[in-house]
Amino acid sequence: MRITFSSPQAEFECIQAAWLQRVEETARRGVFVGGTEVAQFEEAFANYAHVPHAIGVGNGTDALYLALKSLGIGPGDEVITAANTFIATVEAIHHTGAKPVLVDCDPATYLLQLEQVRASCTQATKAIIPVHLYGQMVEMDKLNALAAERGIAVIEDSAQAAGARYQGKPAGSWGELGCFSFYPDKNLGALGDGGAVVTVSDERAASLRKLRNHGGTTRYEHDLPGFNSRLDTIQAMALALKLDYLDEWSRHRRQAAKWYSEYLRDAASLQLPAQRDEESHVYHLYVVRTEAAQRDKLKKHLQKRGILTAIQYPTPVHLTPAFAHLGYGPGDFPEAERAAGEILSLPMHIGMGEEQAAYVAEAVKEIAGRVLA
Ligand SMILES: Cc1ncc(COP(=O)(O)O)c(C=O)c1O
Repeated sequence: MRITFSSPQAEFECIQAAWLQRVEETARRGVFVGGTEVAQFEEAFANYAHVPHAIGVGNGTDALYLALKSLGIGPGDEVITAANTFIATVEAIHHTGAKPVLVDCDPATYLLQLEQVRASCTQATKAIIPVHLYGQMVEMDKLNALAAERGIAVIEDSAQAAGARYQGKPAGSWGELGCFSFYPDKNLGALGDGGAVVTVSDERAASLRKLRNHGGTTRYEHDLPGFNSRLDTIQAMALALKLDYLDEWSRHRRQAAKWYSEYLRDAASLQLPAQRDEESHVYHLYVVRTEAAQRDKLKKHLQKRGILTAIQYPTPVHLTPAFAHLGYGPGDFPEAERAAGEILSLPMHIGMGEEQAAYVAEAVKEIAGRVLA
């Protein structure tokens, strides 16, 4: 059996006929950038996120960067985020000129530690970016409360959590701004790059619409220095079609996680994902953990069995050469550092059935052992 790590192809099959037809129609009409297709997706995505505005942009990194810019964040400001996030979260902060301030993660959920966020707030802190890592949402009621006490803005990095809800409220709708990536293997993935910012604020929305399009909303009217970061028309059409499947696909991912957890429960040296509740985890990734000495052996063994895995992420941000200048070093974020050496993401996608989960689990147990009755 061969089991891919993700399966954007299986998702594509669901929308293929409708999407190809729409691409042909819009191309014939000469619509290649913008158009009603983008506006329609933005409206649908805003409704899905229970907020008044969604602004399509070029990718998730730009979504974070432009969200920070819309708040006027720049040199002299500090922005707090997780040490164990994807590098893009910190790149976005860096490029505004603000200083990224990192915090460690919880060893069970891998989500940022709220106590460390609280302890890291200073007079210069202008924003906090909680990362809903692996598809599980941060406890946003608590995070929002500590930010509100100090007048700090919250920008959710929801790149991995499209479709998740915490206490009934969708990912992205808790913060002043919520940022999404539509990279093809995300839970809501385009057929190339794409991203969006959702917001409750009319003011931020107006600013973002200008920032993404050369500083204006009317051609050759430039109110501020902007960027070129728009959501492509053909991507918006794919996303609009896929959005109709998102809840079904989230249910499928949760079911696949249940199969894994069931079949792996007797794996002796394996830590399974800690799930707070059903709704707030959409299993973008199913991440297990083993001893550092065993992890790479396990990865290689699975590959031999035809099972593709990944490590998200092998190096915490503070130990990458890119962010050495922040002045952190080994030992500063011990949980993030330990996790980076021990985690392994198993295949997780809508093509995973019970048979595939059982096959992966058996192969894992050939290395990770079995609890003997
Ligand atoms: C947590 C997180 N933040 C930001 C991004 C950046 O998104 P993109 O790749 O669309 O720029 C990603 C995905 O790649 C991500 O996983």
